[in-house]
Amino acid sequence: MNRVQNAPQPAKLIPNLGLKHRNTFGFDASAELAYEITSPEQIPEVISTVTNQKLTWRVLGGGSNVILPKVLPGVTLLINITGQEIISSDDDATYLAVGGGVNWHELVAWTLENNLPGLENLALIPGTVGAAPIQNIGAYGVEIADYIDRIEAFDAKDQAFVTLTKDACHFAYRDSYFKQNPHRFIVTKVVFRIHKNWNARIHYADLAKQFTDNSNPSPEEIFLAVCKIRTHKLPDPKMIGNAGSFFQNPIVPNEQYETLLKAHADLVSYPDVTGKRKLAAGWLIDQCGFKGQRMGSVGIYENQALVLVNHGGGTAQDILGLAKCIQDKVRAKFGVSLQIEPNIL
Ligand code: EPU
Repeated sequence: MNRVQNAPQPAKLIPNLGLKHRNTFGFDASAELAYEITSPEQIPEVISTVTNQKLTWRVLGGGSNVILPKVLPGVTLLINITGQEIISSDDDATYLAVGGGVNWHELVAWTLENNLPGLENLALIPGTVGAAPIQNIGAYGVEIADYIDRIEAFDAKDQAFVTLTKDACHFAYRDSYFKQNPHRFIVTKVVFRIHKNWNARIHYADLAKQFTDNSNPSPEEIFLAVCKIRTHKLPDPKMIGNAGSFFQNPIVPNEQYETLLKAHADLVSYPDVTGKRKLAAGWLIDQCGFKGQRMGSVGIYENQALVLVNHGGGTAQDILGLAKCIQDKVRAKFGVSLQIEPNIL
């Protein structure tokens, strides 16, 4: 007798989904058609339908790194795959598997509660676990790439589930293989490798300042210090719409850096892993006098010039207009081009 296999529940289809509360800029946007994905097994059918009907599609994670238009055409996938569990452990590390829909900051807090320190420098970064590796989130001298073992995803090009090892993810500063191949991968699960020999990383100036009288902070103390700094420097999206850093820190050749330094002795920069020089975009923008400025409904945050904000009622067009203004002035003053960091959908 043939037995009927347990088929997964199909993904929930939601027409005309309002996205104002699903993007941290708070832009008034909607998705023509949205699918809520709660299990990886639902993905192949959705992608096959979308491909057959030649519809455009994209994944929306926590909406914390996107610039949304009024209407997102085609299909928007909301990834709500949850769950986190320790799957194995060896002498050097603990392996933790986490669903793509889990909230990033909640995961960081959970790892600390479960005595798995390492991710504390990345506290309070908005967004989901599945979105985090796409732009290789980083803060205070740590990148998520340092903790990734492998990533499970659905490859829409080959219509198959794949597992990418850390090396295959091609991680770089705010970059990855997923970002280089847009509209292709849907991250379903991230397997973290949490090293057992924990070391405090408080060398970043802002963080070091918090520990002048404590050279041996615990992971929890670092977690709280990072939360404190971020709360001060970055506006809470619930109060003022924003997407964190709006531009990448530009990487320039050493000759250009030397020339700039001659003209601006207080230029803020860091050595980059590529041997070139990474400039603080926030400093460049600040020097052009933009901090705290407003242009209609949008503006530049008063405590951090790298963060553009929506004071309410702003649109993608408004924010891109302001961005162009900033890019033009920074280029004219320093000869440096700023790249927009969030994805423009
Ligand atoms: N600066 C100014 N004026 C400003 C802002 C910055 O002069 O208005 C100067 C300061 O001297 C400061 C330096 O620029 O020391 C760098 O600023 P900050 O330490 O605030 O860091 P950042 O380079 O602006 C990066 C990441 C952040 C991350 C922090 C901490 C990028 C694009 N941004 O910001 O990531 O939290 O370092 O590590 O790499 C994000 O990507 O959304 C994000 C918030």
